[in-house]
Amino acid sequence: MCGIVGYVGTNPVLDILLDGLEQLEYRGYDSSGVAIKTESAINVYKAVGKLKNLREALKPYISDISASTIGIGHIRWATHGAPTIVNAHPHTCNCGNLVVVHNGIIENYKELKLKLEKQGCVFRSQTDTETVAHLVAQKYAQTKDLTKAVHLATKEIEGAYALEIMHNDEPNKLVITKRNAPLIIGVSEDGYYAASDIPAFIKHTNKAIYLSDNQVATITPDSLKIEDINGCEISPKVEQLPWEPVALSKMGYKHYMLKEIHEQPDVIRNILVGKLHTSDSPIELNEVKLTKETLKNLNRIQVIACGTSLHAAMVGKYLIEDFCGIPVDVEASSEYIYRKTVTDEHTLVIGVSQSGETADTLTAIKQAKARGSHILIITNRPDSAMAREADSLLSVNAGIEVSVAATKSYIAQLTSFYLLALYMAEIKGTVESDKLKHIKSEMLSLPQKIEQILSSKSEIQACARKYSGTKDFIYIARGLNYPTALEGALKLKEISYINATGYPAGELKHGPIAMLDETMPVLSILMNGSVYEKILSNSEEAKARNARMIALTNSSNDKLKDLFDYIIKVPDVDETLSPIIAIIPLQLIAYYIAEFLGKDVDQPRNLAKSVTVE
Ligand code: AGP
Repeated sequence: MCGIVGYVGTNPVLDILLDGLEQLEYRGYDSSGVAIKTESAINVYKAVGKLKNLREALKPYISDISASTIGIGHIRWATHGAPTIVNAHPHTCNCGNLVVVHNGIIENYKELKLKLEKQGCVFRSQTDTETVAHLVAQKYAQTKDLTKAVHLATKEIEGAYALEIMHNDEPNKLVITKRNAPLIIGVSEDGYYAASDIPAFIKHTNKAIYLSDNQVATITPDSLKIEDINGCEISPKVEQLPWEPVALSKMGYKHYMLKEIHEQPDVIRNILVGKLHTSDSPIELNEVKLTKETLKNLNRIQVIACGTSLHAAMVGKYLIEDFCGIPVDVEASSEYIYRKTVTDEHTLVIGVSQSGETADTLTAIKQAKARGSHILIITNRPDSAMAREADSLLSVNAGIEVSVAATKSYIAQLTSFYLLALYMAEIKGTVESDKLKHIKSEMLSLPQKIEQILSSKSEIQACARKYSGTKDFIYIARGLNYPTALEGALKLKEISYINATGYPAGELKHGPIAMLDETMPVLSILMNGSVYEKILSNSEEAKARNARMIALTNSSNDKLKDLFDYIIKVPDVDETLSPIIAIIPLQLIAYYIAEFLGKDVDQPRNLAKSVTVE
């Protein structure tokens, strides 16, 4: 949540900051602002709403700042105080000489604020961040050294932060620091970049330094000095980023979400390379660092995640329990961290997160690690804070996902769970070889089957249009596809704001059926297999209450035409793998309804891609 970007170098800073913020808009878009160093002062400009409003607000001032080469910027996802100009970053101290941008939450800001107010500071905003501006300014008054002031101030701050700070009396300098929030330094011949995420500077450089917690970096156009918490200089490790700027383009699609849905066949292909060669060869998962002996003797697994990642984890539970016979608990990270969870060195704890930054999951993982559990992380960001906590790291390599609504990262997480469950089953010898061979062969055919669905997307588009006027939507399924129903509903909620809910089909008659009438669409995920007949019966029950029935099915049963008003047909697939096939039309339905309603598909209201606050 919130994105920050800074630049110190020889090129004009304004476009660097605005382009950088645009790439960070996935982190929030309630307001934005920049602070630019000019010859005489540090000028601050802010706007409420999306970045285009800031671009507009800056137009009259371009000539004042176009030559400037040092500045910082911020894009906000509001936590403390409404999205207003006053609460927008950058924040300043009372004399305006010191400016700061911040991502994270200062947990002791109320105590700090009281203390600072008693000492004469006047607060203008409701934000936690403003305390940092006053506190560092106070320390600067004592030390006359911005780096030292930041060291002293951060000793009094509790919580999570990535901070970028400038002072008018040290005109060529940017001081940055972090704790439990991401901050990366881009290194180029033209200067240094500092941002919450790589997309903010990847078009300028692919050399980067990952700042560690409590380190303070002092940056000038031609120097970079990094100190640890005690002020001792450390030599930075410059890494080559495996990123291409092209990953950030829409490639001709109207929205990133649609592009990312279309990338899913290749995402699966990429994950399978080197891990699943043929249906006869064993799964190779060198990333799992548990010994075969430990894996054989595992008696409990916990999976923790949020949102879409939680739905992937739920599918993972079905797979691991079915293939390996090991009990698996799945829990939302936000619940896991506030109760006495039973975890020890005999429990494998799996954290699932697209961003690798989600605060609740990160905290949960740290708690489990402290209790001695082996930590396996499934993430799309091998460079993330969560990845750094991993004993075993399954990097899903889906490529950057820009749209706030997760699609390809979900498919990548699912695929990784299949590989993990099969790998463990092979070691434990819990699945017959014929069945293993069949599942592997089905896995290898998934990309073509998804391509088949995507090539007939106009039918799904027509279905979406037909149901786009609805206020509510119900998805029902059983077994492995219950999480698919939840994920389909979440996608629709997120981007169209329609009240959509997923239910286990058998639960319908225990309450939700009361809502059914001729206005309510009920989408049944009706895949061939063990629960097909059961869902069919539950669909009959819904039809008897006049609901508008839609089937998502791989069945060719002619009788379905009598029961359903609309049938979305998908290619046949083994029931075990059906969650990977069934989710694709649900992503498309959500996309096309939102697009038809004219919603902001890639940046839905109130959401952010990385939820770095608890
Ligand atoms: C997915 O569409 C959502 N934007 C959201 O539920 C997301 O999955 C959740 O916040 C978890 O994020 P993570 O996977 O990055 O941890």
